Amino acid sequence: MPAKTGKLTFLITAGGTREYIDPVRFISNASTGMMGYALAQAAIEAGHKVTLITSPTALIAPKGVKVVNVETSAQMFEAVKANFARCDVLVMAAAVSDYTPVKVSKTKIKKTNAPLTIKLKPTTDILKWAGQHKKTQLLIGFALEDKNILTRARGKLKSKNADMIIANTPAAIGSAKSQITIISKTGAIIELPKASKNMLAGKIVKVITQL
Ligand code: CTP
Repeated sequence: MPAKTGKLTFLITAGGTREYIDPVRFISNASTGMMGYALAQAAIEAGHKVTLITSPTALIAPKGVKVVNVETSAQMFEAVKANFARCDVLVMAAAVSDYTPVKVSKTKIKKTNAPLTIKLKPTTDILKWAGQHKKTQLLIGFALEDKNILTRARGKLKSKNADMIIANTPAAIGSAKSQITIISKTGAIIELPKASKNMLAGKIVKVITQL
C-alpha cells in the first residue's frame, strides 16, 4: 500500500439508510449521522477534499464538503460506486441497513385486523464491495458491537478487506460522545477514551493520513 500524503480525497458516508415499505413508511435505525459529519468536518479542517454521501439527518454539512443526498442503501451503494474510483479514502460511517423489503408497495398499505408480515432480503454490503474493488484506496469501516468487540472487529477487517475498523458500541448511537477502538490491518490497536465525536473524528483523520 503506497503511503498517502498531502491532500487526499475522502469519500464519507453518514446516517441511517431508509428502506421503504410503501411510499410513506420505511425501516431505519437510530443513527443520527453525527460521526460521519464530524469526520467530514475534521477532514476538511485538515485540508482534504470531501464528498459526503448522506441519508437524511438533522445535521448541516460542513462548508466546503460536496454533498450527495440519498435515502436507501441501494442509492447509497450507487453513489459510492459513482465516486469510488476518484477517492483516496472511503470511510463507511453510515449505518447501512442489512435488510430491505422484498417488495415496496406502490400505494400506502391499508390497515386491517390481521397481523402483517414484511419479508426482507439482504442488501449489498457496500464496504465489502469496496474491499473487492479497491486499487489504492484506503478503506475504513465501523463495527458496532455489543460483545466480543475486538474479535468481531478483526473479523470485519478481514471479511471486508478493510484497512482499518473503528469499533464502537450501541451506546454511541444518537450520542454526541463515543468510545472507540481503532484496529488496523497492520495489527495495531489504538484504544481512545470516551470523548466527543468531534474530538474523535480529528484523531481518526490523523490516524488515516498516517496509515
Ligand atoms: N456496511 C456496509 N454495507 C452494509 C452494511 C454495513 O457498507 N450493507 C458497513 C458499515 O457502514 C460499517 C461496516 O460495514 O462500516 C460494519 O457494519 P456493521 O453494522 O457493524 O456490521 P455488519 O457488516 O452489518 O454485520 P452485523 O450487523 O452482523 O454486525
